Amino acid sequence: MKCFVTGAAGFIGSTLVDRLLARGDEVVGFDNFSTGLTEFLVEAQKHKKFTLHQGDLLDKEALSKAMRGCDLVVHFAANADVRFGIYHPHKDLEQNTIATFNVLEAMRTHQISKIVFSSTGSVYGEAKVFPTPEDAPFPVQTSFYGTSKIAGEGLISAYAEGFGFQAYIFRFVSILGERYTHGHVYDFYRQLLEHPEHLHILGNGQQKKSYLYVQDCVDAIFCALEHARERVNIFNLGTEEYCEVRDSAAWICESLQLQPQFSYEGGERGWIGDSPFIFLDTAKIRGLGWRPKLSIRQGVERTVAFLKNNPWVLKRS
Ligand SMILES: NC(=O)c1ccc[n+]([C@@H]2O[C@H](COP(=O)([O-])OP(=O)(O)OC[C@H]3O[C@@H](n4cnc5c(N)ncnc54)[C@H](O)[C@@H]3O)[C@@H](O)[C@H]2O)c1
Repeated sequence: MKCFVTGAAGFIGSTLVDRLLARGDEVVGFDNFSTGLTEFLVEAQKHKKFTLHQGDLLDKEALSKAMRGCDLVVHFAANADVRFGIYHPHKDLEQNTIATFNVLEAMRTHQISKIVFSSTGSVYGEAKVFPTPEDAPFPVQTSFYGTSKIAGEGLISAYAEGFGFQAYIFRFVSILGERYTHGHVYDFYRQLLEHPEHLHILGNGQQKKSYLYVQDCVDAIFCALEHARERVNIFNLGTEEYCEVRDSAAWICESLQLQPQFSYEGGERGWIGDSPFIFLDTAKIRGLGWRPKLSIRQGVERTVAFLKNNPWVLKRS
């Protein structure tokens, strides 16, 4: 299979690229390197079956040209940062929704009809049901990021209905692991390097969150591609557990053998759009036989180990 991967140089995208190449697929990567790192593609670049296009999804011509001849599109490129949406609302609209529309149009041009899309648990806003199943009613959206992703999901479903596309939409919890470049573990690690005696936490630390290890995330995507046969296949991806942010902070400190003073800012939410409780029901993907191999704690520890062993990441990202 010839796979077109947007966001190929990103945290999750580059991990998927390596896994696709390892199983023998041909891969065309597409990335504008806004947050992606060339270093993450060093191994892929050695591979005969890998081609990289540096380009922006808002450049329709470049996108269409790069995608020609592929069989499957994995659309992972996005502005993946939830926190700063209110400072530039146009960014989520352009990078997430309009970029998704451009991807779908390029697919239509080239008669490519299978798409994998990285959505998010943030689309549930502040859910009322826990663990939250895929068919939970959507409450009011609380972030521009979640809004832009649910709009992307809507476009994909409409293309599936209108043009016979087959879609695999994954609503991830926060992902952890090697090549991690953004998120709370990164923020805490960076702070602790600067001032090991003090850790400042956004929110009261009691926000409940679920996390998933990146290789488990890729396993789940492969499992769904192999076994799910609907026209629009929507799956929550996460672990069957959650932790409080202060638990995760404690594991990070333990891994670094530090005992800082914690301080907190804000109440139940760390920032506008932060959901105080994210815990997804993953029975649907587990019904296909998938199970995560790592616990949240193990995922946090792997992430800290990666950041410790790769100090260049903090300088580059
Ligand atoms: N990391 C998580 O915890 C998480 C959770 C839920 C959903 N997701 C989604 O998974 C996907 C991958 O996230 P990630 O954590 O790997 O993020 P990332 O920032 O590491 O990767 C995104 C990649 O997309 C590229 N990119 C962004 N805009 C582009 C554009 N206009 N044209 C071309 N390339 C562009 C970036 O350079 C980067 O390489 C995103 O869609 C994100 O919204 C991530």
